[in-house]
Amino acid sequence: MRTIKIFDTTLRDGEQSPGASMNVEEKLQVARQLVRLGVDIIEAGFPIASPGDFEAVQRIASEVQGATIAGLARAKEQDIRRAWEALKDAPQRRIHTFHSTSDIHLKYQFRVSREEALKRSVEMVAFAKSLVDDIEFSPMDATRTDPDYLIEVVEAVIDAGASTVNIPDTVGYTTPNEFGSLIKTIKERIGEKAVISVHCHNDLGLSVANSLAAIINGAGQVECTVNGIGERAGNCSMEEVVMNLATRKDFYKASTNINTKEIIRTSRLVTRITGIPVQPNKAVVGANAFAHESGIHQDGLLKEKMTYEIIRPEDVGLKSTELVLGKHSGRHAFKTRLIELGYELTDEEVETAFNKFKHLADQKKNIFDEDIEALVSEEVSRIPEIYSLVELSISSGTNVSPTASLKMKINGAVVETKEHGDGPVDAAYRAITSLTKTKSNLLKFDVKGITGGTDALGEVVVSLEEDGKTARGNGADTDIIVAAAKAYITALNKLALRKKQA
Ligand code: KIV
Ligand code: ZN
Repeated sequence: MRTIKIFDTTLRDGEQSPGASMNVEEKLQVARQLVRLGVDIIEAGFPIASPGDFEAVQRIASEVQGATIAGLARAKEQDIRRAWEALKDAPQRRIHTFHSTSDIHLKYQFRVSREEALKRSVEMVAFAKSLVDDIEFSPMDATRTDPDYLIEVVEAVIDAGASTVNIPDTVGYTTPNEFGSLIKTIKERIGEKAVISVHCHNDLGLSVANSLAAIINGAGQVECTVNGIGERAGNCSMEEVVMNLATRKDFYKASTNINTKEIIRTSRLVTRITGIPVQPNKAVVGANAFAHESGIHQDGLLKEKMTYEIIRPEDVGLKSTELVLGKHSGRHAFKTRLIELGYELTDEEVETAFNKFKHLADQKKNIFDEDIEALVSEEVSRIPEIYSLVELSISSGTNVSPTASLKMKINGAVVETKEHGDGPVDAAYRAITSLTKTKSNLLKFDVKGITGGTDALGEVVVSLEEDGKTARGNGADTDIIVAAAKAYITALNKLALRKKQA
């Protein structure tokens, strides 16, 4: 049985999804969860892209152990040096460098000849190799590259020191048969000289199928993202490719080092942190992936699970929503549960989350894992609070003009106001804008109930934009208007931090 390496690029290509930017603390939480999940390589970012990207790669390299940490770099000396600086504290590190090889990219975007592209690729792989032993090279837009030239580049970069050659389907153009035979040809040419990796985008919905076809034909590494997030239509979805290999071991004769029981938790963490929801019918991690609606199916399942269930829900970490804590649970039980859920919070953050938990327990009898995850999401972001909510009361109804009375703390001083609006959320948001004197635009406003029941914790996710910068905020409360106010204030704090950093 072959072991296929899982190279997770949620923090790099995944972050290229519109609106998915994560701050450093959020990236650290995701990276730690990826280690628990068992990925082999974490692509932590693109260090030259921005100071924030550099810091994230550097912190992950020095604080997260248990996987190889990779940093992306164009085939340019300054990019590679920057990646090296960010990665040097990691016990296992990899520089992933790339250069386009398709005539379309070379002619229209980079205006260089094939010879020049080959020369730069070789020189830069050799330069990266002088800094780090583990080098990956990607010929970008490989699937629209002349195959003979592609193989020439692949062989040359291996000779220059690349130990992994990644074949990207950058624009999601290939098909399983075509891609499978390309990988087969490359495998026949390079044998065991380097690991063949694949990196498939999902523009035509084939990223997982193409990656699996590559595995059958000799690929030893798959690049993927949690929930399939990524540039445009996204990347190959980690959970789908892993569960295909696990469920059809008989066919693929390959496995991974992934602890599949961590899949759901990882998916939820990424959803919460990026604000990108998972479609209900998404394979493996969608809300309906294990829901059986038809009477015939339910009848079969009651008699024998195997009739309609090819994956056991518990194998991906799905537990029937189970009661975890209640009003009488103490600080210790709460902290233990947080650790089990994969959160690493400071004592101060645990204390804040515990107070929120106690407050929630007064309003809601049964508290589930999902409630706890929503409660700690603000702590996970670790943003300094310039603005915080002190009190909010709303009057609204069929014959009442919606009014918000709001008290906030701004830079330590308590201020208050009263505003009317078109609805209760509008009134609350007008009050927040008036006190904070901010001018952001609301890009997105999503509300969902965390668990069932009328006492459910409601979670609101908002995205704001100001001066070209965007920020996302989550807020959870049994009162949906309070949740909306918290989400708005969190996003404002993130925007303020971004402006300060800029
Ligand atoms: O899609 C792509 O080609 C990439 C490369 C940088 C590997 O993301
Ligand atoms: Zn990509």
